[in-house]
Amino acid sequence: MIIAIDGPAAAGKGTLSRLIAEHYGFHHLDTGLTYRAAAKALIDAGLPLNDEDVAQKVAGEVELADLDRTVLSKHEIGEAASKIAVMPAVRRALVEAQRSFSKRSPGTVLDGRDIGTVVCPDAPVKFYVTASTEVRARRRYDEIVAGGAPAEYDAIFADVKKRDERDMGRDDSPLKPADDAHLLDTSEMSIEAAFRAARDIIDAALKKE
Ligand code: DC
Repeated sequence: MIIAIDGPAAAGKGTLSRLIAEHYGFHHLDTGLTYRAAAKALIDAGLPLNDEDVAQKVAGEVELADLDRTVLSKHEIGEAASKIAVMPAVRRALVEAQRSFSKRSPGTVLDGRDIGTVVCPDAPVKFYVTASTEVRARRRYDEIVAGGAPAEYDAIFADVKKRDERDMGRDDSPLKPADDAHLLDTSEMSIEAAFRAARDIIDAALKKE
C-alpha cells in the first residue's frame, strides 16, 4: 500500500502523513527533506546552488537514513531546496531514491509536491492537502513564535506566496493535484479532522486490496 500526499508548504501534510504512518504502521518519507539534504550539502561545501551538474552529483549521494528534520528545517535550507528542485537532473536522482523507498513493506506514506503525479502515479490512495495562503502563513508564524523566535506575519506571508509560485510554476513536476487525488482543505478543518477523513478513505482502499 502506497499513500501519496501532496500539497503546498505549511498546509499540514507533514503532520497528517505522520499520523497516518503511525496509525497503519507504515514507513514515512517526507520527500521535502531529500531536497533539503541536497541543498544543505551544497551550502556546507560552499558550492553554488545554480550548477545542475554539481547539484545532481550531491543529490545522488543523499542517504535517506540520515535525514534529520531538526537540522534540515531551517528556513534558508527550504529556500535553497526550492531553488534546486527546479532542476530535472536533481529531481531524477532524488525521485529514484523515493521510488525505491515507496516499495517498502508493509506500506509507505510519502509526502511532497509530486508524489501522486510523478513519483508514485499508481499509488492506490492520493491526497492533496491544501489551505489558504493566509492560514498557512498564520500557522508558520505561530510555529515560529511558539519556538521563541521573532517573526513578522507580512514577511512570512510573502515568503509562502513566493514558495508556492516557484513550486507550482516550474516546468518539471510542478505542484498540482493528481487527477485522482482526494482534496483535503485544512483552512477550516483541524489536522485531526483531516486525519479522520483520510482514515475512512484509506480503510476503504485497504478493504479492496
Ligand atoms: O516540503 P518542504 O518545505 O520541506 O520542501 C522544500 C522544497 O523542496 C519545496 O519548496 C520544493 C521541493 N520539493 C519538491 O520539489 N518536490 C517534493 N516532492 C518535495 C519537496
